[in-house]
Amino acid sequence: MAVVALCSASGSPGVTTTALGMALLWPRPVLLVEADPTGGSGILAGYFRGIKSYGQGLVELALSTEDIADLLPQVAEPVGSSAASFIAGPRTHSQAPALTGLWAPLLRALQDLEATGQDAIVDCGRLGLVGWPEPLLAEADLSLIVCRTHLPAVAAARSWAESARRGHPTWAHPAVMLVGERQPYSAREVSSVLGLPVHAVIADDPGSAAVLHRGVTVPDRFDHGPLVRSLQAAISAIDAVMRTRAEGLGVEAMSDVQ
Ligand SMILES: Nc1ncnc2c1ncn2[C@@H]1O[C@H](COP(=O)(O)OP(=O)(O)OP(=O)(O)O)[C@@H](O)[C@H]1O
Ligand SMILES: [Mg+2]
Repeated sequence: MAVVALCSASGSPGVTTTALGMALLWPRPVLLVEADPTGGSGILAGYFRGIKSYGQGLVELALSTEDIADLLPQVAEPVGSSAASFIAGPRTHSQAPALTGLWAPLLRALQDLEATGQDAIVDCGRLGLVGWPEPLLAEADLSLIVCRTHLPAVAAARSWAESARRGHPTWAHPAVMLVGERQPYSAREVSSVLGLPVHAVIADDPGSAAVLHRGVTVPDRFDHGPLVRSLQAAISAIDAVMRTRAEGLGVEAMSDVQ
């Protein structure tokens, strides 16, 4: 396993919620990187409820003359008692263009983490924004377009999926992650329209999502609720895709969620 990048084509399908949820449940040490050029750190304001102040983040990495690989552990902050640590994104959208030169060396530093037993999950935000982390999505070990299953969401994802398939932009490993299957379309239907495999399906579970999205009090049975269970299944599915690839067993199979 190594670098998993999540992004969206339109709307707010749940990229940040899903990326954070996966990081918190990740079975190994993992670095969650907020590479969303929108700015304002949805995670500091949301999950951390604005209590955790902005220390250092991607902007400091971009401004430093030191080696990024050396700086990563200093800039990353632990997330509670989980195996995850976190690097905050830009404070404002106006800082995002300054990050353009950071994405390629950051990707290399994240890939090198694998040697230390650490994976990376990257929240790349909305595709095509000024300063978007295009090089990261191009070369991540898995680049997942997070998508709802209604027609406007699928229609917006379609042109990006087509571009990714055709190599404009060049993505090494494009795939799809659905939030709220059968609302109304199934994973199989969405996969067939987008021409990309659906590697995981995240449950539509607004109550649990609010815990991760804006730090509301954890409801009863959160750990056994639909969101957490689907996040765990997503992690297993992604793990299986990576293992299959590593073992050289051929083309990435469609996930068995379909
Ligand atoms: N699995 C889910 N089930 C139900 N609601 C969800 C789920 N994931 C996220 N949400 C809700 O969707 C909204 C957007 O979530 P989130 O900020 O994670 O999306 P995003 O794709 O990162 O959006 P943005 O493009 O603004 O960064 C929030 O209200 C959140 O609680
Ligand atoms: Mg987000």
